[in-house]
Amino acid sequence: MIKIAPSILAANLLNIEDEVISVDKAGANYIHIDVMDGHFVPNFSFGYNIVKSIRLITKKTLDVHLMISPVDQYLEAFANAGSDIITVHAEAGAHLDRSLQVIRGLGKKAGVSLNPSTPTDVVQYVLDKVDLILVMTVNPGFGGQSFIESQVDKVSTLRKMIGDRPIELEVDGGINPKTAALVTGAGANVLVAGSAVFNSGKYKKAIEALRQGASS
Ligand code: DX5
Ligand code: ZN
Repeated sequence: MIKIAPSILAANLLNIEDEVISVDKAGANYIHIDVMDGHFVPNFSFGYNIVKSIRLITKKTLDVHLMISPVDQYLEAFANAGSDIITVHAEAGAHLDRSLQVIRGLGKKAGVSLNPSTPTDVVQYVLDKVDLILVMTVNPGFGGQSFIESQVDKVSTLRKMIGDRPIELEVDGGINPKTAALVTGAGANVLVAGSAVFNSGKYKKAIEALRQGASS
């Protein structure tokens, strides 16, 4: 089954409680929370307090995407805030293996994200320590960017590398019903969508359109 993870980066932040409850009711599987530090990526967004607040209003999986460097010293705070999946960037530090071990040690699912220019080899020796691989289909930092086509091939390669391991393959950036078809065809099973959901006005319809695109 394809999972849809609306990214609250594109939500109306003046009304974040209603926005989260609306996408929850509209059929979102995960709530995707983008954390940016103005250093690893050229933008700022949320800290762990937003995770803590959102935890109070939904039972959906909180899929926390950390675009921060360094990252290790913040993992415990994000775990305590109520994250379910904590994803770090392979490019964010020298010790990916250690970061993944720390996340699992905190009782959370461990994810690793790859920027568009990062090759798949970086995950080869940590496949036994990851629960999710996140392929960035845009350069991280902003919502509303165009999908980078070369990443479809990366998704296929990772799907093969994953084999029968219980690892989710997520994509993030520029996902709409059309690009959803490309990435799910290549083996992705979790679709992050910011603009495609929150700019639609009709969340249920937008989520259904993504599912339909994925199955086309
Ligand atoms: C980008 C973020 C994405 C972003 C996606 O750095 O990781 O999650 O919100 O936005 P859209 O779906 O609008 O490309
Ligand atoms: Zn994201």
